[in-house]
Amino acid sequence: MSDDDDQTPDDDGKGEGENLPGWGSSDKRRRRQGGPVKKGGDARAAKQMFERVKTARGRKTSSTRWLQRQLNDPYVKKAQMEGYRSRAAYKLLQLDERFKLLKPGMRVVDLGSAPGGWVQVALKAGASEVVGIDLLEIEAIAGATLLQKDFTEDDAPALVKAEMGGSADAVISDLAPWTTGHKSTDHLRIVALAEMAAHFAVETLKPGGFFIAKVFQGGSDDGLLNLLKTNFEKVRHFKPDASRSESAETFVVAMGFKG
Ligand SMILES: C[S@@+](CC[C@H](N)C(=O)[O-])C[C@H]1O[C@@H](n2cnc3c(N)ncnc32)[C@H](O)[C@@H]1O
Repeated sequence: MSDDDDQTPDDDGKGEGENLPGWGSSDKRRRRQGGPVKKGGDARAAKQMFERVKTARGRKTSSTRWLQRQLNDPYVKKAQMEGYRSRAAYKLLQLDERFKLLKPGMRVVDLGSAPGGWVQVALKAGASEVVGIDLLEIEAIAGATLLQKDFTEDDAPALVKAEMGGSADAVISDLAPWTTGHKSTDHLRIVALAEMAAHFAVETLKPGGFFIAKVFQGGSDDGLLNLLKTNFEKVRHFKPDASRSESAETFVVAMGFKG
């Protein structure tokens, strides 16, 4: 993923740190872990004491750190209580709260969807159609079409468009490449994905539509910004509270597609 915070316990370069245990897996596995999450759970549960993870033999220190952070992350707990598949869901909810973007009946393309938190948020806001794509398999969500495919493959944009069957009101991208640990390389990779997403948005959106993409703070993304400023009425950067403060991740929001 795009920042150190989103990495798996087992692999310093790849990650599903946004994902909650039990999602993207079989129902059997979810049952083993305590059953499906109920909506509107007990808020007191979010105030549990700080949990320490014992360093198990064979588990790397970085894995222990990741697990400890997940166990003590308020958004992880909130997502489990409210039935969202990832803590990332709160990033979109907070972007929407700030810019009032999602409306009932919207047709939404979600790039980098797994495990499906943003898809859930769009549907809950009343989207009439959601098409998602990810390298990883995404467990089915009623009301959404979910593709397992690399978005950078030549035929991917056309496939997503065909599934949408027409233009979209929103293209939202939480695409995050596996990190290498080398800051400037990681930055270039995330900007390249965001630029691809932006070109796709320009080809796919209806006039008035909006675009969101995950980017890194402090790097040069002039190409992306110029493209957005040319094609949208308003372009803003926003780092939601759910985006960890120590992470360089932020979001670019482009509103009022000129068509
Ligand atoms: C931060 S996660 C998305 C979380 C998601 N928004 C949610 O709410 O559950 C980023 C996702 O981007 C996906 N990704 C990275 N590169 C990709 C690519 N080239 N094509 C498709 N998906 C990609 C990763 O597999 C990962 O699942």
